[in-house]
Amino acid sequence: MDTNPQWFRDSTPYISKHRNKTFVVLLEGGALAHANLVNVVHDLALVHVLGVRLVVVHGARQQIDQALGEASFHNGRRITRETDLPTLLGIFGEQRARLEALFSTGLPTSPLRETDIAVVSGNFITARPVGIVDGVDHLLTGRTRRVHSDRVNAALEAGALVMLSPMGYSPSGQVFNLAADELAADVALALGAEKLIVFNETGALTNPVGERISIMSPVELHGHLETGEQHLRSILRASRGGVRSCQIVSYAEDGALLTELFTAAGAGTQIRESYGALIRPANAEDVSSIVEVIRPLEEAGVLVRRSRDRLEEEIDHFLVADIDNNVVGCCAVYPFDGCAELACVAVHPSYRDTAALRNRNSGIGASLLEAAEQKAVDAGVERLFALTTQSRDWFVDHAFTDASLEDLPTPKQEMYNYQRNAQVMIKELVRHGR
Ligand SMILES: CC(C)(COP(=O)(O)OP(=O)(O)OC[C@H]1O[C@@H](n2cnc3c(N)ncnc32)[C@H](O)[C@@H]1OP(=O)(O)O)[C@@H](O)C(=O)NCCC(=O)NCCS
Repeated sequence: MDTNPQWFRDSTPYISKHRNKTFVVLLEGGALAHANLVNVVHDLALVHVLGVRLVVVHGARQQIDQALGEASFHNGRRITRETDLPTLLGIFGEQRARLEALFSTGLPTSPLRETDIAVVSGNFITARPVGIVDGVDHLLTGRTRRVHSDRVNAALEAGALVMLSPMGYSPSGQVFNLAADELAADVALALGAEKLIVFNETGALTNPVGERISIMSPVELHGHLETGEQHLRSILRASRGGVRSCQIVSYAEDGALLTELFTAAGAGTQIRESYGALIRPANAEDVSSIVEVIRPLEEAGVLVRRSRDRLEEEIDHFLVADIDNNVVGCCAVYPFDGCAELACVAVHPSYRDTAALRNRNSGIGASLLEAAEQKAVDAGVERLFALTTQSRDWFVDHAFTDASLEDLPTPKQEMYNYQRNAQVMIKELVRHGR
């Protein structure tokens, strides 16, 4: 990780954004066995100290596999025999104690010196048996029946970090073995958590040419399930169920969590619905719809006129807002050296000011802007500028500041239309949604 002090300064917006939010974190058995676990725990402790309400769900699949030797599974789910239970409970206890010990380290050489973290566990989960699936009795393998959110919230309110082992109790007092990834998703949903953070070995998901996918929608995640591990299904369920942001980060990479949560670039993959389903890159078939949205604004002098040919040539720079296969808004991002121009921001009049109507946190214009910023950040750019004649206040509302012609890249200065006399607006970028 970058040791430049600017890195820490730049994290300020993320620190404010995350404070008092609830994050549910899944640490599977592989993470618990990895040499980097100590650093992961230190980073979680830092996140806790910064005011995030943390619930850590640990698994122990790897340790159980080693201890039980031959074990039976059905559709990737372990069948838990009564005779396995003492081994499982021993492993859960051991792993939880290890984690609690790591969170308690107070040696002068540890980053946790002077920090006092209360780790709380308890009977937070009621479970029920999975039962018989495809004729296979899953015995003491269970599912979450109820998360006692009130108890978890009380512990979080009191400033504790809540730690959950993958087990739950039935009303008759029976212990059930749960899948840790399912439990983490259930807990995130029940608590209305802001984030579900899943640690795995490889971290971010990648595209077919091996590049990291920094952000994707649940629909896109669905396409990864074929190749994916079980935890992706739980992430998808959490995401579709309303957990605003699910993040996959590597437990093997030192500092991955901090980079993911507190920097614009991130280090993992984030799955979120907000604009993913609505804002998408434009393609050649969108040209006519874009023309329909922007022509009246061009005629009114609000936007600079673009010919259809130019639109076709530049279509790759465009993002569109798509509602039910209907293009209702657009914007374009043109990269320059070290910065990018945001141009042609337009929302169809019947879809403006719809944030409250559509029960969303942000309107279509704001969602387009958020996606444009992401596109610019992904292109390695740190500032976004725009030229506006009638929407200065809208840009100011979205953290742009007034700038002068000299702040623009030279080629853009040379093209400046003095007759139009547009105001230059600039925004320093931090990535949304980390
Ligand atoms: C600017 C524009 C893209 C915003 O789209 P939108 O989907 O309505 O945007 P949002 O829902 O994110 O924001 C709505 C808020 O912005 C305000 N707003 C909209 N246009 C504004 C403008 N020109 N100046 C100041 N504020 C404006 C609305 O009053 C509303 O405020 P509220 O939340 O306090 O009620 C849209 O109004 C538009 O297409 N305008 C014409 C084209 C244009 O001016 N483009 C920018 C120049 S490149």
